[in-house]
Amino acid sequence: MKVLVINGSPRRGGNSDLLCDEFIRGAREAGHAVEKVALRDKTIAPCRACYACFRTGSCVQQDDMAELLDKIWQADVLLLASPTYFSTMSGPMKNMIDRLLPKWQDLGGKDAYVIVTGHDGRAGLKLMGEELSTVLGNLGCRVRQVIWGEHVWQKGEVLGTPAMDEAYRAGRAL
Ligand SMILES: Cc1cc2nc3c(=O)[nH]c(=O)nc-3n(C[C@H](O)[C@H](O)[C@H](O)COP(=O)(O)O)c2cc1C
Repeated sequence: MKVLVINGSPRRGGNSDLLCDEFIRGAREAGHAVEKVALRDKTIAPCRACYACFRTGSCVQQDDMAELLDKIWQADVLLLASPTYFSTMSGPMKNMIDRLLPKWQDLGGKDAYVIVTGHDGRAGLKLMGEELSTVLGNLGCRVRQVIWGEHVWQKGEVLGTPAMDEAYRAGRAL
């Protein structure tokens, strides 16, 4: 299967990256073709709500989203990972989600996974997990698992936590 991992953390090598990489390690061992996209490396402007895409099927803005949208469309499995920022997802992840508008009715039928990181415990991160799961559900994707990278703040704190094993096993089980 084609697996697309999208990480919305601006921090290279942070906890979200580490969990994504464990998921990817498992998925590659299971024989899947995996691509990882870090939104920090992409230029994706906010949606302008011009609704031109409703008429033309594509966005008027010429940036990296057209290519990413095509990758999302082609993927069999989608993973969205984001740090928790003020109880919600990161800005880059939200911008990317809003830019799904041109194809939002054509992205269903995929299995989906969510990775949430934050210094809070699961109760404090719950909203973020639910938000990303709701978005994926609205697209018609089946959310198979939310992986909670809880109680992590500084880079690398997720290493050695149960979330790392959960991420690996989720990828391996694809
Ligand atoms: C602007 C900002 C806001 C944050 N807000 C929260 C929060 O509301 N809840 C929380 O648990 N962690 C919060 N954090 C901590 C991050 O979610 C945590 O450090 C996470 O590991 C970052 O992911 P990364 O390591 O992939 O960069 C915040 C961090 C930043 C930079």
